[in-house]
Amino acid sequence: MAEQSYTFRIQRNRVTEGGRLESRWQEYQVKVNPNATVLSALEEIKGGQDGSLTFRQSCRSAICGSCAMRISGRTRLACKTHVGIAARDGVVTLAPQANQPVLKDLAIDIGPFFKRIHTIRPFLEEGPETATQVGKTAYDHVNQVSQCIMCGCCYSDCTMAEVSPEYIGPAALAKAFRFVSDPREGKKSDRLRQLSDPHMMWACSRCTMCVDVCPKDVKPMEAIVKLRTRGIAKGYTDGAAQKHALAFHEDIKKSGDLNEFTLMMRTLGLIGTLKETGSALHLMKKGKIPSPFPHQAKGVDQLNKVFNLLEQNPLDVETKAPEIVPE
Ligand code: SF4
Ligand code: SF4
Ligand code: FES
Repeated sequence: MAEQSYTFRIQRNRVTEGGRLESRWQEYQVKVNPNATVLSALEEIKGGQDGSLTFRQSCRSAICGSCAMRISGRTRLACKTHVGIAARDGVVTLAPQANQPVLKDLAIDIGPFFKRIHTIRPFLEEGPETATQVGKTAYDHVNQVSQCIMCGCCYSDCTMAEVSPEYIGPAALAKAFRFVSDPREGKKSDRLRQLSDPHMMWACSRCTMCVDVCPKDVKPMEAIVKLRTRGIAKGYTDGAAQKHALAFHEDIKKSGDLNEFTLMMRTLGLIGTLKETGSALHLMKKGKIPSPFPHQAKGVDQLNKVFNLLEQNPLDVETKAPEIVPE
């Protein structure tokens, strides 16, 4: 394929002596093959036009995770993304990862990201729950999340991390799932109890962004949903999110419809519900208070059959269809 001209619109960042982040956009014209990687175009700019441009890179092979940055709106690996695919009308926009402190230009401080990983104790621990047999399913689970290269793409594009900096984030939770699933791990229950705390697995909004952006197909959200199922099975159901999920499940199973009138009470309890009186009055004024009388959906007997089948044959959530490999 012939070389083409592209505009690289790059966010230049600098931390002032007072610790303030100053940002501006700078454009560079580069002639490259559309199949060239964004990383090679960046090297071309740095080598031929502007040696002050700062970014991280190491392996150039989608292994080390260091070149993750926002490329035309999504966080991706610069060494794995082709310029022709990233360009929008001939323009490639580059910015540092979101939700992380910026050091300079496209380079971020990876310290806080790894602090989150350390929170979940990323190592096997001896304890009473250690098993000696490793089954195929456990092997598959451990294997899937072990592909993680700690690039931070998922954390950068996570919608919850954006609004709640305390949220532990998808990469740490995927890593936690690796240990909860490993038969050799001795403290699985202890881990699930820790993961049931606020800002851990129940804080995820299940937006699927982490599944979309992960360059290694780790599917963090899938791991989070599996962790939640295991946490509930262990009886760690004290939090509002767990109570909400259980109340939701109970209503749908019983009547095929939500009893929104009692849902809040079952989720937040009496005191929590009273605190929401202001919102309830606001809804009442708008005529949006749900009926206090439970409603039974048509065909609820069919729904019950589905519930019974699922209870007898539990399924693990899948967020993506398995890849079909041509024969
Ligand atoms: S699914 Fe959850 S963890 Fe993944 S990006 Fe969305 S909020 Fe974040
Ligand atoms: S889960 Fe995927 S996107 Fe997140 S850090 Fe690991 S490899 Fe990167
Ligand atoms: S340079 Fe290592 S993943 Fe891109």
